[in-house]
Amino acid sequence: MASLTRWRPFFICNLFKPTASYSCLHRRHRHDHVVSARRSALLDRVLRVDHAGEVGADMIYAGQLAVLGNSKVGPVIQEMRDQEVHHRVTFERLIRQHRARPTVLLPLWNVAGFCLGAATALLGSRAAMACTVAVEETIGQHYNNQIREIMEQHPGEPEFKELLHTIKQFRDEELEHLETGIEYEAELAPAYKALKAVIQTGCKGAIWISEKI
Ligand SMILES: [Fe+2]
Ligand SMILES: [Fe+2]
Repeated sequence: MASLTRWRPFFICNLFKPTASYSCLHRRHRHDHVVSARRSALLDRVLRVDHAGEVGADMIYAGQLAVLGNSKVGPVIQEMRDQEVHHRVTFERLIRQHRARPTVLLPLWNVAGFCLGAATALLGSRAAMACTVAVEETIGQHYNNQIREIMEQHPGEPEFKELLHTIKQFRDEELEHLETGIEYEAELAPAYKALKAVIQTGCKGAIWISEKI
């Protein structure tokens, strides 16, 4: 009887040991799964909206060039468009690389971007530059928000290394476009503040919806 009492803790330990380690492994596996799903969801969302934005930006400059291509601001707009094409192509590659899903609204952003660029250019080169200021300021803020989100949620993770580097570089280039717009007298455009506010509201709506569908 005495020996049975002595052995009981041993039996109990062995009875619960495998259960405990299984539960621990299970919990760890679930945690890894949750982290990986969160990482994929963030990558998917970031790549979809950034690609959509760069398609829109490319088309805005294409619309401006259709109207102002032969004017004195033509070469400046062309230079900015060349960078937007590079941004768009880079996100197309990253989308394929990470198997993200592009937005279903791409045809809409193609048409809307071109129309916005052409319409503002028809109001004159200052209005075209006001459009540039409005769009690039919004994209710059959007990229800064993404950089903050990635660095807070996935610090140092290799999956985000290239993406972070890309977003930082493109953010800097968008802010250069913004400065170009100011330099070419965007602020002297007719109804500058109202025009900027309307375009920025549209851009924020486009960002919001492109993150989702
Ligand atoms: Fe861009
Ligand atoms: Fe830009």
